Amino acid sequence: MLLSVRRPFRILPPVMSKEIVVSGIRSTGFLHLGNYFGAMRNYVKMQDEYNCYFFVADYHSLTTHPDPKDLRANVYRVVAENVACGLDPEKVALYAQSDVPEIPELYLMLNMLAYMGELEKVPTFKDKVRQQPQNVNAGLLTYPVLMTADIIIHKAVKVPVGKDQEQHIEMARNFVNRFNNRYGELFPEPYPFNYSSELIKVPSLDGTGKMSKSENENATLYLADEDDIIRKKVMKAKTDSGPTEHNSEMPEYIQNLFLLMGLVSTPDVVDTYKKAFNECTIRYGDMKKQLAEDMVQFIAPIREKTKELHANEDAIKKILKEGAEKARASASVTIAEARKLIGINYY
Ligand code: ADP
Ligand code: TRP
Repeated sequence: MLLSVRRPFRILPPVMSKEIVVSGIRSTGFLHLGNYFGAMRNYVKMQDEYNCYFFVADYHSLTTHPDPKDLRANVYRVVAENVACGLDPEKVALYAQSDVPEIPELYLMLNMLAYMGELEKVPTFKDKVRQQPQNVNAGLLTYPVLMTADIIIHKAVKVPVGKDQEQHIEMARNFVNRFNNRYGELFPEPYPFNYSSELIKVPSLDGTGKMSKSENENATLYLADEDDIIRKKVMKAKTDSGPTEHNSEMPEYIQNLFLLMGLVSTPDVVDTYKKAFNECTIRYGDMKKQLAEDMVQFIAPIREKTKELHANEDAIKKILKEGAEKARASASVTIAEARKLIGINYY
């Protein structure tokens, strides 16, 4: 006789809601390798595992007073480039920041908790003051406050960004704690995120800083660059006559070339050149040729896909509209809770 084993009630696992992710890219020009490896590559991986909100930070881009004619084209371009890199608007909310009025409302609330002294000390603010002394507007000063509102409006806990944004997110945690302590627990603390263990800074090709949308255009590889431009830029990257002693220390500009190679070339290619460096047989001309070809292989399909998507304005409008609906559904819940905690509920 078969033993009938009485099964205990099946215990269902608790319904795990997916962690919330938010990140944004400013609509200030063509996207580049830094944006891709610092931010977008993570977005694409995260879309299957998390509840993702990705947006075009068009309000943030107003700090530099862009020509109104250019704004729309720039916003559309960021959307097209995100989708060309593999973001699926069905899986995530992809929207424009200015389509979510709850964000500026929360920004206003948070501004009352942010102090002049701490905002003036932010390194990115100090850089801007140095770079554009004729336009030190209040939007620049409160930039980290708006960023906090972007993130916590959806109660995000993970924020995929490049290394340059680390301090802004640390400030976001401060503002979150200040709000929670004053009005009651509402927001979780957000943390920067990258799939590798460290946040990334993609260096510029001339070794003087990071790749960026608007500065240093000849030393930045854009996702829209044509093949010949990519080759030209890579071949101009700074090198020297090569090491003269085995296993010498690598100058920073050569480390940067290896870093870039690590992003787009296969590991055995990188190893071959590393070995050649250590044995003093490296020929930087060959290394750059290899890097240029691997960059072309990497960038060309994204560039072509972007062109195709960018030409279809109706599709982009649809993405933005649907994204805004998803984002507002979440933002309106949070803002109602924040208003209530603050005491704004009069009737
Ligand atoms: P940019 O600085 O080029 O104007 P954004 O400010 O819009 O670009 O940045 C969008 C995202 O790209 C952010 O997550 C930022 O950290 C990341 N990012 C920008 N430049 C780099 C870089 N050189 N290396 C790594 N990440 C970067
Ligand atoms: N400040 C970011 C940058 O310059 C862009 C940004 C705005 C952002 N709001 C955000 C990034 C919220 C992550 C989360 O790169």
